Amino acid sequence: MCGIVGYIGYKDVKDILLTGLQTLEYRGYDSAGVALFTDKDIVVYKDKGRIEHLRQIVGSEASCTGIGHTRWATHGVPNHVNSHPHQSLDGRFVLVHNGVIENDDELKHKYFVDYKFKSETDTELVVELLSYYVRKYKAVDVALRHLMNRLHGSYALAILDKEDPDVIYIVKNKSPLLIGKGDGFNMVGSDVMAMLKETNEFYELDDLEYAKITKEKIEIYEITGALIERESFSSKLDPNDMEKGTYAHFMLKEIEEQPFVLRRIIDEYKKDEKLYMDEEIINAVRQSDRLYIIAAGTSYHAGLIGKELFEKIAKIPVEVHISSEFVYNTPLMSQKPLFIFISQSGETADSRASLVKIKKMGYQSLAITNVEGSTLYRETNYQLLLHAGPEIAVASTKAYSAQIAVLSILAYLVGDINDFDLRHELSLVANVIETLCDENELFEEIAKKTFTKRNCFYIGRCIDFYVAQEAALKLKEISYIQTEGFASGELKHGTIALIEDDTPVIAVISQENTNLNTRSNIKEVKARGANTVIISLKSLSAEKDQIVIDDVHPLLTPLVTIIPTQLLAYYAALHRDLDIDKPRNLAKSVTVE
Ligand code: M6R
Repeated sequence: MCGIVGYIGYKDVKDILLTGLQTLEYRGYDSAGVALFTDKDIVVYKDKGRIEHLRQIVGSEASCTGIGHTRWATHGVPNHVNSHPHQSLDGRFVLVHNGVIENDDELKHKYFVDYKFKSETDTELVVELLSYYVRKYKAVDVALRHLMNRLHGSYALAILDKEDPDVIYIVKNKSPLLIGKGDGFNMVGSDVMAMLKETNEFYELDDLEYAKITKEKIEIYEITGALIERESFSSKLDPNDMEKGTYAHFMLKEIEEQPFVLRRIIDEYKKDEKLYMDEEIINAVRQSDRLYIIAAGTSYHAGLIGKELFEKIAKIPVEVHISSEFVYNTPLMSQKPLFIFISQSGETADSRASLVKIKKMGYQSLAITNVEGSTLYRETNYQLLLHAGPEIAVASTKAYSAQIAVLSILAYLVGDINDFDLRHELSLVANVIETLCDENELFEEIAKKTFTKRNCFYIGRCIDFYVAQEAALKLKEISYIQTEGFASGELKHGTIALIEDDTPVIAVISQENTNLNTRSNIKEVKARGANTVIISLKSLSAEKDQIVIDDVHPLLTPLVTIIPTQLLAYYAALHRDLDIDKPRNLAKSVTVE
């Protein structure tokens, strides 16, 4: 959601900002804008629509300092006026904002009773309040501290001051913001990807900190005004990983990367040719009497598989919670809980809010995330990385398999298991995924024939039900077909009423103990006109099953049964000519609650 990039230095800033914003497109946005410091003034270009459109409207004036923004609408529709940057009425300050100000109505009534706001955004309030405090206290840094004390909610701000062309101010609370250090220039960005083409040295900003950035200097301050010493870090991301290469879409590239990601995980989590994870983490899990997995969307679905893995392999009871629910409906806790936060981005606001809550209660936490240095990574006690490489498509695919693989290794090491060799089993899984990815034509054909209706069901039992839920999310988010992932045995208790002629029902069968029952449920929907497709493992398959997958270890089946469903979703969206990598209304990194 929303992205910020800023640059102060010696190069022409326009292309740096537009390219930076393009790398942030994956987060989801509906409008974009830039503010450029010229020798006379600050000029703002912004509008609803894509970066390509912004590129067309940006003027040709020379500028070496500027800020840019992609907006995902929260307050007010996507249009020119609501787009960022926003400028104060007196023209002095121009700023971009990520996040949501919770008390904007209260502040508008308190400070700006007679002021007619031009936009519907909370951001316009921020720029006017800043300008008000600067008039009152005559110093920008003092004004920023007052601003931070007054605003409630999440905000990452990048600010230009017309009276000081040599500085970009930034402010952060709850929304991610990083500083990039260069040689003769400096940058700011919502994530490292926006800056990686220019630099690979970064500083984090913590909540309620602000910074003053010139082309030569970076000064980070606490809200009290005290200067902070901070270590820089570099990113292992390869800028080439952010390119599509010969693929038509990032989603297809990322689906096909899954075998490679699994092999990399096996490699990253090994020592002396054996699977290995930090002993401290293993002990923390062993010492807990119950694990609480907190996550959203696809990561939540991976968490459901995680429950299966921990309970079956490590014999530790697990509860899995949707993070946005957990914050406001916290269950009764066990004596020694450990919280596991699963998140591709490490920035999901709902998960972060849950983390803040359990930290206040004094509990320990582990983040399983793809992004080193992300908020969840920094704020938890223990961390495990997914090593999936940047996931750009909004629809999560390789992060899901990476999450399951990392959870399986953790459960295996915690359980101190010797009766099977997980490393070997995961390698077999990687091979099976490779074979499946070679069957593109089959999945394209099935997608064409099957998704002819406005709605669809994925069904399964137990672990296959969890996969069905993820499969349904994948299909609906990119093809806009209304899809439910359903427990097949539960259909007859009401939902079967929705089945009519040609309703697509796709069943997942990977477990011996549920095979026959699920097949009975398939017969029930077929008898009511459903157009059924069966995805099964070879050892359980029947003659007419359309998608048959080579067998893998029974606890690892979600890693292979999910692949056809990802490809079916991809081809369903492709045939509808939809924006596969950037589906409507969605953001990759959901940084508001
Ligand atoms: O970055 P996270 O894993 O925390 O994101 C959670 C969800 O927003 C994410 O999985 C979302 O559901 C994806 N669009 C699913 O493909």
